[in-house]
Amino acid sequence: DGIKRLHRTGYHFQPPKNWINVATAPMYYNGVYHLFYQYNPKGAVWGNIVWAHSVSTDLINWKALEPAIYPSKSFDKYGCWSGSATVIPGIGPIILYTGIVDTQNTQVQCYAIPANESDPYLRTWIKPYFKNPIAVAERTINGSAFRDPTTAWLGKDGLWRMLVGGRNFHIGVAHLYKSKDFLNWVLAENPIHSAKTGMWECPDFYPVSLCGKKGLDMTSVGERNVKHVLKNSLDLTRYDYYTIGTYSSAQDKYVPDNTSEDGWGGLRYDYGNFYASKSFFDPSTKRRVLWGWANESDAAQDDIKKGWAGIQAIPRMVWLDSNGKQLVQWPVEELNSLRGKEVKMGNKKLQKGDYVEVKGITSAQADVEVSFSFSSLKKAEEFNPSWKNAQELCGKKGSKVQGGVGPFGLLTLASKKLEEFTPVFFRIFKAPHNKHVVLMCSDASSSSLKKEGLYKPSFAGFVDVDLANKKLSLRSLIDHSVVESFGAGGKTNILSRVYPTLAIKNNAHLFVFNNGTEPIKVENLNAWSMRSAAIN
Ligand code: FRU
Repeated sequence: DGIKRLHRTGYHFQPPKNWINVATAPMYYNGVYHLFYQYNPKGAVWGNIVWAHSVSTDLINWKALEPAIYPSKSFDKYGCWSGSATVIPGIGPIILYTGIVDTQNTQVQCYAIPANESDPYLRTWIKPYFKNPIAVAERTINGSAFRDPTTAWLGKDGLWRMLVGGRNFHIGVAHLYKSKDFLNWVLAENPIHSAKTGMWECPDFYPVSLCGKKGLDMTSVGERNVKHVLKNSLDLTRYDYYTIGTYSSAQDKYVPDNTSEDGWGGLRYDYGNFYASKSFFDPSTKRRVLWGWANESDAAQDDIKKGWAGIQAIPRMVWLDSNGKQLVQWPVEELNSLRGKEVKMGNKKLQKGDYVEVKGITSAQADVEVSFSFSSLKKAEEFNPSWKNAQELCGKKGSKVQGGVGPFGLLTLASKKLEEFTPVFFRIFKAPHNKHVVLMCSDASSSSLKKEGLYKPSFAGFVDVDLANKKLSLRSLIDHSVVESFGAGGKTNILSRVYPTLAIKNNAHLFVFNNGTEPIKVENLNAWSMRSAAIN
C-alpha cells in the first residue's frame, strides 16, 4: 500500500484511484459547485473516458457521485470527451460535450440535460435523441480534430454562440456555431479566431473587467469596458496559452491585442504542469474561477503501480491585471479554511549562500506566503537578449548557480541534507535602458534521487512586475507531489509535479535561501500546516 499513498495529495483534488484528466463543465448551480472530469473507471492510464462527477459547497471539500455522462448512445459510444456547462437563465444547466462515434476517433458535439432539476446534486443526466448530435464535422472541418465545446453565450441579436476547438492542417481554429434555440446549431462562415499553432484543445472564451477583480458572466455583458480572453490548449506543447483582446459580436470576430504573442511564445496561465483548463463564472461570489489539470511527471508503469494518475490544481480566481496586458490568478480564498498551525519569520537577512529552515509545520503539506526585499539592483547580472526561453534559462541558471540579485526564494520538499529539493525562486537581470528582467523558476531537476522514469523540468516564466519598491512576493502550495506557486501576487504561476524519495511526509523540510551577492531580506513569511480536505 505504501507506494499507492506515498505521493497522494492532501488538499489537491483527486479521486480515490485511476486516471483523470480535464476538469470539464465546472459550474455553480443552486448553491452547489459541480466538477466533472475526464476519468478512466478501469485504470490509471488514459482510456474508457467518462465524466466523473463531484459536488462541493466550498470548492475545497468534495463529495463523489456516480459518473454523470458515459458512453451509451450511438453518438458517444466510443467516449465522452470534454465540454462545458451553460446555465440558461430561467431554464437551468445544459452540458455540451464531445462524443466519439467510432474507432477512428470521429468527434461530434452533443448535449445533455439534468434528468431531475429538483435533485440538488443533478446526479443523473440524459442525452435525448432529439437533435443529438448537435454538430458534426461538415465542410472543411477535420472530424478527428473537432472537440471540446465552450460555454455558450447569448449575443445582442438573440442568438446563442459556442466555440469548438479544431485544427486545419497546421492552424489551430476556434469554430463558431450559432443557434436560436440551443438545439439547432449552424456553423458560421469564419472561425472566431485561428493561428498557426497546431490543434486547439479545450478553448475557453470569456470577458474580463477593465478594473477590479470582479468576474463577469459571458451572457450578461456588452462589449464596452471589458476585454475578452481566448485560451487554447496546444496539444503540441501541452501548455495553456491565452491572449487578451477585443470581441465584436456584430462581426463575430475576436482580435487579440498586440501586447503579447499569439502563439507558442505567448502568455500562459501557468509555466509548469497545467493543461486543458476551464473557467466558470461563480454568480454567488461574482468571481471567475479557473480549474486546470496537472498530469503526473512519472512513468506510466509507475502510475499503474500507484493505481492513480492526475490531479486538479487548486481552483484559482482569475482577473485582468491593472496594466490590461495579462491575467492575474490567486487560489480561491476558501483554501485558507484548511490552514492549521502557523509559523512566521520576519526581518531576516539572507547573505549569499544562506539557507534557513522554516520549522514547526508539516512541510510536505503546507501553504507558504513570503515577501522578499533587497536594497539595490546594482549587482543584477546582465541579461542577454537572446534568452527568449525562460525554461532554458532556468536550466542553465538554477538555484545552485550563484548570481547577483538572486537566485533567492524557497527550497520546498527538501530532505534534511538537501539531497532532494524543489527550489522556487527569482533571479533578477539587468536589461538595456535601465530595465530589469525577472525570472521565476520552479526547478524539479533536484527534486528526487530517483533516476529513471521521472520528468524533472526546470519550469520557468518571466515576471512582468514593477520593482520600484524593491520587493517580490511568492506563495507556494506544497502538497506531497505538487508544488504550485504564485509569483508577484499571481502574475506568473508555476505548478511542478515531483516525487521525492527522502523528502516525504515528516521528513520533508522547507527553507528560505539566497544564492546571490546582494543580501536579501525576508520581510514577512507566514507558513501554515495544511489540513487534508475531505475529497471524494
Ligand atoms: C485534452 C483532451 C481534450 C479531450 C480530452 C479527452 O487533453 O485531449 O481535447 O476532450 O482530453 O480525454
